[in-house]
Amino acid sequence: MQENSWIPLFPEQASSFAWQVDWLYFYILAVTLFFGVGCAIVIFYFAVRYRETEKFGKGADIHGSMVLELTWTIIPFVIAMTMFIGGAYVFYNLYRPPADAMEIYVVGKQWMWKFQHGTGQREINELHVPVGRKVKLTMTTEDVIHDVFIPAFRTKADVVPGRYTTLWFEPTKPGKYHLFCAEYCGLNHSGMGGYVYVMEQRDYDNWLSGTVSGQTPVEAGKDLFETKLGCASCHQGNDQGRGPTLTGLYGKEQKLTTGQAVNFDDEYIRNSILNPQGQIVEGYQPIMPTFKGQVTEEQLVSIVAYIKSLSGNTGGGNSGASGTGGTGTTSGSASSSSTTVNTPNGATNSTGTINPRRADRGETGNTQGSNPNAPENRSEPTRREER
Ligand code: CUA
Repeated sequence: MQENSWIPLFPEQASSFAWQVDWLYFYILAVTLFFGVGCAIVIFYFAVRYRETEKFGKGADIHGSMVLELTWTIIPFVIAMTMFIGGAYVFYNLYRPPADAMEIYVVGKQWMWKFQHGTGQREINELHVPVGRKVKLTMTTEDVIHDVFIPAFRTKADVVPGRYTTLWFEPTKPGKYHLFCAEYCGLNHSGMGGYVYVMEQRDYDNWLSGTVSGQTPVEAGKDLFETKLGCASCHQGNDQGRGPTLTGLYGKEQKLTTGQAVNFDDEYIRNSILNPQGQIVEGYQPIMPTFKGQVTEEQLVSIVAYIKSLSGNTGGGNSGASGTGGTGTTSGSASSSSTTVNTPNGATNSTGTINPRRADRGETGNTQGSNPNAPENRSEPTRREER
């Protein structure tokens, strides 16, 4: 069970980079305290020591001091740079998932977390992982923005509709750790949480074999690709189809008809399914229909896993999508984000909670609202005044 650290109410350190986050935090806290308290003391001391003793007394004129000026420039500069470099280093560690991490797919929805292991196990609000293994979460949401936060691992990241974000950690201690949603997402936001169970490898193997494993994401994706959605009729393996063969493309650059190049990553695959006209690969016709509204986020994740596996990528994951930036650079990512909140049939709404369609922000294209100053509604001046 979870015990607290040496500081009361402070979560214990249970991931490989937790100590780095804490060091940075306490370093900044110490510097802030030192100067905050120091300034207060000096102000108080000076107020007493140099209080007015004679009416209209005049202090001595001081005309600059190179030593003083340099001191109060260089010291704060060095302190600020240590914070910056430390922060950049820790940030870099936190938001670059290592290539050899074990990949787990996460779909958030109001109000639960759904996890899917590469081996086919599915969990809700519980996540079992082995100790000492690097774990990468590839995350998205069916409705609104959520945020995965595991305090003991000192890491968190937003889960955003219409894109994949990633998070990684390496648990260092077996135990049970709180998992929270850290982005206000509606009525039961506070209840949207669970536990991460970190287990010894042997216990983890037992757990794996003792739980029902359905189709693995790759198998489920293959099923969708070849049968249910019929992608394979165009994307054939022999380059004879009307669409490109997808084998061996993952992680490579794709040249688009617009002359742009995009990285063939999770985000790109997702966009191509939901908004196929957005990023057409050079040499192909824009004939692919959209699958928007026909696939759930969980199915999308499976298709992504399957297409990845065509390039020999089995959960290692070398997606360039960082936790914060995302990689959607073209119009495709922007337009798909507002529409994927649609869960077409609510079929996955297994717990009878409020239908995620409540969160639908609509896709009727009325982006201007009723703003009379919106460019489209303003009458165009026919001539500029000339003088
Ligand atoms: Cu999900 Cu707050």
